Order: sequence, then structure tokens, then C-alpha cells
Amino acid sequence: MKILGIETSCDETAAALVTDNREILANVVHSQLEEHAPYGGIVPEIAARAHIEALDGIIAETMRRAGIGFDELDGVAATGGPGLIGGVIVGVMTAKGIAAARDIAFLAINHLEGHALTVRLTDALAFPYLLLLVSGGHTQLLIVEGVGAYRRIGTTIDDAVGEAFDKTAKMLGLGYPGGPAVELTGKTGDARRFALPRPMKGRPGSDFSFSGLKTAVRRTIENLPPGPASYQDAADICASFQEAVSEVIADRTKNAIANFRHSYPNGSGLVVAGGVAANNLLRATLEQVAAQENMLFIAPPQALCTDNGAMIAWAGIERLRLGLVDTLDFAPRPRWPLDPDAPKAAFAGVKA
Ligand code: KG4
Ligand code: ZN
Repeated sequence: MKILGIETSCDETAAALVTDNREILANVVHSQLEEHAPYGGIVPEIAARAHIEALDGIIAETMRRAGIGFDELDGVAATGGPGLIGGVIVGVMTAKGIAAARDIAFLAINHLEGHALTVRLTDALAFPYLLLLVSGGHTQLLIVEGVGAYRRIGTTIDDAVGEAFDKTAKMLGLGYPGGPAVELTGKTGDARRFALPRPMKGRPGSDFSFSGLKTAVRRTIENLPPGPASYQDAADICASFQEAVSEVIADRTKNAIANFRHSYPNGSGLVVAGGVAANNLLRATLEQVAAQENMLFIAPPQALCTDNGAMIAWAGIERLRLGLVDTLDFAPRPRWPLDPDAPKAAFAGVKA
């Protein structure tokens, strides 16, 4: 089985060709970073236009690298949400066009399901497992029970963790995206110089909160001597920030493991995905937590952790194998929770 996957929900225009024996025949990602960099964040309208301009070429390049023609495809999968709606529409319409023209299956994929199932493409991990999804838009802990069967046991009550990295970088003038810049700058920093808060640490449950940490970073910067922060100041703030984030995530993840084990006493996998999973301190911390709890720890390779078409193609394969095909009247969804029945986060009323 061969599926073309299309991802356009954020600032990457991506396509990939994946087979049901877990082979990635081609995986092409075009980042729009340069288009958004002058604005210090993603501008939805610019993203949608950039997807329109790039997508046909990215798909052609994917088919060329895979060395196959459209007539060899069994299906075409596209991110159907959640995400920036302009971009999602571009990917969905393109996928529907190909599916209609070639009379092949069309699959609308939940972007989060793409992240959640990636580890089955890379490592053939069996269900159930525990997933920590940490990106620019999401911070969630999910029990992945099967295709289409997700139990959310923790989420952020305010900002996503990637957003906190990006805002910290912006406040320090380190550029966008912030995560890699904060990590690099923090390398030579003293994580003990600034006492930043550990929001939610020690509380029951597995929800997160990062807006207070962001505010504390802002105050710390304001309390520095006047003028631009010195490199050492920035390094110490970045190191302190990363340590606070890692400690909080470790604490929330430990609670999630207990919750997971309650339902699945023999459940053994902790998986981390999303752009923030690139962070080395976070990875090392999670590895330790997993070891303490006798959990297998898996972080898919970075190129498959950040947004890509292969994860969408793979989710398409998992769904097509189960006959879960979509019809061409599927409407793109700006919001699409993986677990619609999840209880609201503690103190909710805010984004999930
Ligand atoms: O998953 P992703 O590529 O896009 C979505 O948000 O869906 O994640 C991007 C996020 C950004 O907030 C970026 O700053 C963060 O991942 N990020 C990192 C690192 N690399 C990327 N955060 C911390 N450390 C990193 N090394
Ligand atoms: Zn993503």
C-alpha cells in the first residue's frame, strides 16, 4: 500500500510517500520560516498564501524522489485540522483533487493523530502507550489506546510550552523560532542564578500552565540593569527557564505514568513528540523519569517529531487499513480535539 501525505496546518508545507511496510519513500518539508521571521511569529494569511504557492511543487518533488506515479497510489491523506484554517483548506482541497482525479481513497487526518502514531511508523510500537505531545500549539499527555482511540489525561490551561520558549526568546531578542535559540544560548548559562517558578509542580493530575513562567521571565528581564541584556544574563535566564520547564514536565509526566499504569498495569512505552521534543535537557530528563518508572522511552528522530508529511501519510495508512476512509464532502476543522470527551483542564475555560 502506498499513500501520499500532505501537511499544511501551520508553517511547514510538507508532503511524503509512505508504504504500509513502514518505508518512507520520500519526505519533503518546506519551511516558511523566512516568510514569517520579520514578524516574530506566524502570520496566518502569509502562511495560507505560501502553502498555495509551494504545495504543487512539493508534491511533484515528493513523487519524483519516490520514483512513482500517481497511478500507483492507494490513497491520499491530508491534515484536516486542527490548525490555521487557510492552510488546512489548501492541503485538503489539493488532496481531494488528486483523490477524485485518480479515483483513490481520500483520508482527512487529525494532525495530532499524525504526531500520536508516528512512533508506530518509526518503531512499530504496539498499543497502548503514553504520549507527551509538546509543540508550539499543544502541550498534552495522551494515552494512545488504538487508531482513533485517545484518552487525554493532561493539557495546558494557558500557553503551549513551545509558545513559552518562543516568547522567552522574543523577550531576549534571540529571534524566531525561539526553542533552538533558547537551548543554544542556555548552554553556557547558570540554571541556578534566577529562581523561576515551577507552575503546577506537586499538584495532582497532569495539566500544565506556562503563562506564569513567561511572566516571571519578563520580570526577571525587567529587573536586569538598564540597557540590552548581556550575553551572560541571557544565557542564565535561558538555562533557568529550561530547567523550570523540564522539572515541571517531568513532574506532570510522572503523574501521567501513574494514571496510565492504573488502566494498563503492563503498559510500557513513554513517547515524546512535537517540536519541543528536540530539546536535549527535556529529553534527558524524560529519559530519567522513564528509567525510574521502568518505561521504555522513545523519541522519534527529530525530522519526524516536527511537522512533516510522513506522519500524515502513516496515519492515512493506519486508517485505510481499518477502512476508515473519508468522503469528499469533509469540511476542514480549525479545532479538532483527539479526545472530545476529555474533562476540561483544571481552571479551564481556556484553550485545550
Ligand atoms: O511541532 P512543531 O514543529 O510545530 C507545531 O507547533 O506544531 O513545534 C514548533 C515548536 C516551536 O515553539 C519551537 O520553538 C519549538 O517547537 N522547538 C523547541 C526546540 N526546537 C523547536 N523548543 C525547545 N527546544 C528546542 N530545541
Ligand atoms: Zn505539529
